[in-house]
Amino acid sequence: MNIVLLGAPGAGKGTQSDKLVEEFGLCHISTGDILRAAVKAGTELGLKAKSYMDAGDLVPDELIIGLMKERFQAPDTAEGVILDGFPRTTTQAVALDTMMAELGRPLDAALLVDVDPEVIVGRLCSRRMCRACGYIGNVADGPVCPKCGGEMYQRDDDNETTVRNRLEVYAKSTSPLIDYYRGAEILVTVDGDRPVDEVYADVKVKLGLAKAEADCGCGCGCE
Ligand code: AP5
Repeated sequence: MNIVLLGAPGAGKGTQSDKLVEEFGLCHISTGDILRAAVKAGTELGLKAKSYMDAGDLVPDELIIGLMKERFQAPDTAEGVILDGFPRTTTQAVALDTMMAELGRPLDAALLVDVDPEVIVGRLCSRRMCRACGYIGNVADGPVCPKCGGEMYQRDDDNETTVRNRLEVYAKSTSPLIDYYRGAEILVTVDGDRPVDEVYADVKVKLGLAKAEADCGCGCGCE
């Protein structure tokens, strides 16, 4: 299964991806994670990407498309991928279609995690992540990762000014992809402004990975 995850910064794409990986073992490709690792390692890609990322702007299409072409050569992508943060522009979406056609692996779904921008500002300013295992949490987790005991830190781009710019960039450059995938008849949407597990249950139903629970209407959860 090949899935594109769409949604504004902070909508919960990484959080839902982690749950899909844990339950179904899908291959998760996050361009943000790849770029942050490149910045940390001081590679040529990282040096080129850093200033864009710090400002909350998009890294140029040619760099991203080049890195994704390379990433798709790896054997772990053959059984299907969750693309988190790619594509982010129409140019990237067209390049992805070409790549998938060449590989004979069509996209099955573009899943939009839909959340109001004002909810997102609060979420991102309080997000904290684990340096060791990548766990995504928030300030309430404290300085120690609840999963592995690693150090929790705040991403450089999770400050209010940069978050607001990321939201503007999303509205201008990435949100047109909603219509792009609606036109391709593979768009599915979940309301991401609910508890994580509720969102995840809906994600699985919308991706055809679980059946919708029957609702007897009494609020008890029985069938
Ligand atoms: P990237 O790392 O992709 O950042 P993003 O899209 O801004 O997404 P985030 O990781 O911020 O949010 P998310 O939706 O994954 O939310 P999360 O699950 O963490 O990109 C960073 C930068 O890299 C870009 O700005 C750009 O410069 C560059 N870049 C990357 N890809 C690129 C591309 N293709 N082209 C060009 N440039 C590119 O959740 C957020 C918080 O909310 C967490 O604290 C979490 O615990 C909490 N949360 C999650 N779900 C819920 C819920 N249901 N209820 C309450 N809280 C929740």
